[in-house]
Amino acid sequence: MKFKKILGIDIGGSGIKGAPVNTKTGKFLEKRYRIETPNPATPDAVASVIKKMTGHFKWKGPVGCGFPAVVLNGVVKTASNIDKSWIGTDACELFTNTVGLPVMVINDADAAGLADVRFGAGKGVKGSILMLTIGTGIGSAFFTQGRLLPNTELGHLILNGKNAEKYASDATRKKEKLSWEDWGSRLNEYLLEMERLFYPELIIIGGGMSKKMDKFAHLLTVKTRVAPASLLNDAGIIGAAMAIRAHKAEVLKKFEKT
Ligand code: BGC
Repeated sequence: MKFKKILGIDIGGSGIKGAPVNTKTGKFLEKRYRIETPNPATPDAVASVIKKMTGHFKWKGPVGCGFPAVVLNGVVKTASNIDKSWIGTDACELFTNTVGLPVMVINDADAAGLADVRFGAGKGVKGSILMLTIGTGIGSAFFTQGRLLPNTELGHLILNGKNAEKYASDATRKKEKLSWEDWGSRLNEYLLEMERLFYPELIIIGGGMSKKMDKFAHLLTVKTRVAPASLLNDAGIIGAAMAIRAHKAEVLKKFEKT
């Protein structure tokens, strides 16, 4: 089985998006496809969407998925913004069995970071890069010299006595009907804390917010360079595909066992 063309899938709170990706170039090979996230998004319900996705592309090769939680060796460990029944589920095994193809599952922000560091805003940056995906939650991916430190959960840092993602996510901006000024200054507080703790060379803002930087960039006072993810919302799909390529041997071993 070849691992150059991989179906990348980004599992999100409102939509599950996928496209076949050329992992050497980071480009989509076909137009991306979106399916509404089922409600409730239980393991079986999501697995049947993954099946629909592979069916849509008539896919016969490997599949990489980005998932909005901590994922250790394919097993989901947390569930801040997803159905609690995911905790302890081997997502990798579940999807592999459902679609009958080799599947790898990693954290969604790690996936987005892999893509933007290699092909996007972080290309060529040698020092540390912090990618933050801002949407329903706040996801983080930390890189140094192009290498990922997986499963960092910096969106859950306590800021002003609150979980940072409850204070500065896009979902909170909408829920509390915050103006861009108010939300932007909350984000700024969060970024100042990130800067104080990590001193990265670059902070990349990913997720839906990567398209709205013009609304809040002027409110940021961090000294660190802040750039929008240049792959925008596609980073999650591209990075999920890239992850499986890097773990080819391990993925095939698991697949052969099923
Ligand atoms: C989760 C992270 C995830 C982020 C973005 C957070 O609530 O804990 O694992 O990356 O949301 O989806």
